[in-house]
Amino acid sequence: MSDEQKAKVQAQFGPASEGYASSEVHAKGESLGLLVELVQPQPDWVALDVAAGAGHTAFAFAPHVARVIATDLTPEMLAKTAELAAKRGLTNIETRPADAEALPFDDASFDLVTCRIAMHHFPNPRQALSEFARVLKPGGVVGFTDNITVPDKQAAGYYNAYEKLRDPSHNWVYPLVRLQAMFADAGLKVEATRELSKELEFHEWADRMKVSPANKEKLLEMMRHIPEALQPLFAPRWAEGTLYFSLWEAVIVARRGG
Ligand SMILES: C[S@@+](CC[C@H](N)C(=O)[O-])C[C@H]1O[C@@H](n2cnc3c(N)ncnc32)[C@H](O)[C@@H]1O
Repeated sequence: MSDEQKAKVQAQFGPASEGYASSEVHAKGESLGLLVELVQPQPDWVALDVAAGAGHTAFAFAPHVARVIATDLTPEMLAKTAELAAKRGLTNIETRPADAEALPFDDASFDLVTCRIAMHHFPNPRQALSEFARVLKPGGVVGFTDNITVPDKQAAGYYNAYEKLRDPSHNWVYPLVRLQAMFADAGLKVEATRELSKELEFHEWADRMKVSPANKEKLLEMMRHIPEALQPLFAPRWAEGTLYFSLWEAVIVARRGG
């Protein structure tokens, strides 16, 4: 990952750690429980959480495994993870700075790698997936979620421009079929896939990334003119003087070949 992209991520997420700590979508999103249910974590497992943010995925897995190493590129996020873990009395979580595309861990170190709602920031997701496979023990599991878009290329471009205007560190959201192919190419055999939608209130979503009033206006304007192919995905709803819209998230559980 280039230093320029790293700086973008840190500039974006450094001031946002409090917002992510309290974000309902991140702290209580449906994908969190589903991920634990599908992964079936075991008490002797050592887990790596990549791009941990404010730590919600690490907190969900910690009670079920021996140890979780929570990693992220943004120091403020790791500080928030450590603070919240201490508040919850979770003593088996350690934090460590790490770039998802160059993990500072030996081959075959982990039973589980988790990465939730983060890969759309990585400039080279294939490199990240190959790192997940490298640090997993043979037979180890990846518990993954990320937002997804529609396969139509033009609509996917519009979707990603919308996300990028809200968050300059956004790189790319893919359709589910592309994600599944990337997992297979990295030697990770997909064992379970689920798709979930989550409805967001526009201002809460935009303010979490401290979007300027001018860019909020542009985003609202874009939502008024979304391509037909994005209508079922975003399902925009103007109510109570605000905009509600949906994002879709895929949950993927995959296994490194033995
Ligand atoms: C939406 S938050 C993650 C949410 C979190 N996983 C959860 O379950 O609540 C995205 C995180 O990705 C991190 N990030 C972005 N690019 C990264 C990279 N290349 N390596 C590691 N972390 C990265 C950001 O610092 C940010 O904390």
